Amino acid sequence: MKKASKIGVFDSGIGGLTVAKAIVETGLYNEMIYFGDIAHLPYGDKSEAAIQSYAIKISRFLVENGCDSIAIACNSASASATNLVKEYFVHNTPVINVIDPMVDHVLKNYPGKKVGLIGTKRTIDSGIYEKKILEEDPSIQVYSHATPLLVPLIEEDKFSDHLKNEIIREYLHGEKLVSLDALILGCTHYPLLKNELENYFGNGVDILESSTIVADKLLSEHVRNEPKTTECRFFVSDYTPAFERSARKFFGREINLERSKLFDSF
Ligand code: DGL
Repeated sequence: MKKASKIGVFDSGIGGLTVAKAIVETGLYNEMIYFGDIAHLPYGDKSEAAIQSYAIKISRFLVENGCDSIAIACNSASASATNLVKEYFVHNTPVINVIDPMVDHVLKNYPGKKVGLIGTKRTIDSGIYEKKILEEDPSIQVYSHATPLLVPLIEEDKFSDHLKNEIIREYLHGEKLVSLDALILGCTHYPLLKNELENYFGNGVDILESSTIVADKLLSEHVRNEPKTTECRFFVSDYTPAFERSARKFFGREINLERSKLFDSF
């Protein structure tokens, strides 16, 4: 079992705060640094090469600021950059992402079942969930669909329930995502639409979000004698008051965003 003290968590914006919150609630860490790369949001429409370069730069920033482990709290970055980030830090810094724990959860709980997946274009086009699941268990049927508009819908938070439900219906109706046993929320923003998605699917479809699954994985791998109170800092590559307000909602408590100069070129 490993010992943990300071974890660095990053995402393209504030969606990864859903994962950061669950990580803090494990009580495993003395400190957590969060980095939201708002200047480059959304990652879901970027090339693999661009996301890789952002991910390496941010991971280096986290390690230079004392983090002894890294959580990639973004599916698009997990799909594009996990191997590179792991290779870059070799054995010194454990790296967890949001995809592998979810794949393990699906393999364990849904053999022979039908599982849907929604996410950004980057995540869905990578085919990474299907590949990892079907390699281990071809009896699981995986149907995926890119739902890129959901990220701005969540970040903006100005839309009526009616419009949210219409967009969800527009994306999800059709033959692929019917008679599901579970739906993977393959984007760390989507837990904020969990109620709407549960209403859309009704009972009988498990809505799977990575935050709790990542937290359970960390708890299973680490020693925890006394639950710790985690001191948190939140950095962003671009700052707006609107993001700070949304960030508070995602994290579930008062937080202040610090503007980082990491990507400034002048
Ligand atoms: N939170 C990111 C993810 O999990 C999506 C947001 C984005 O496209 O930047 O993929």
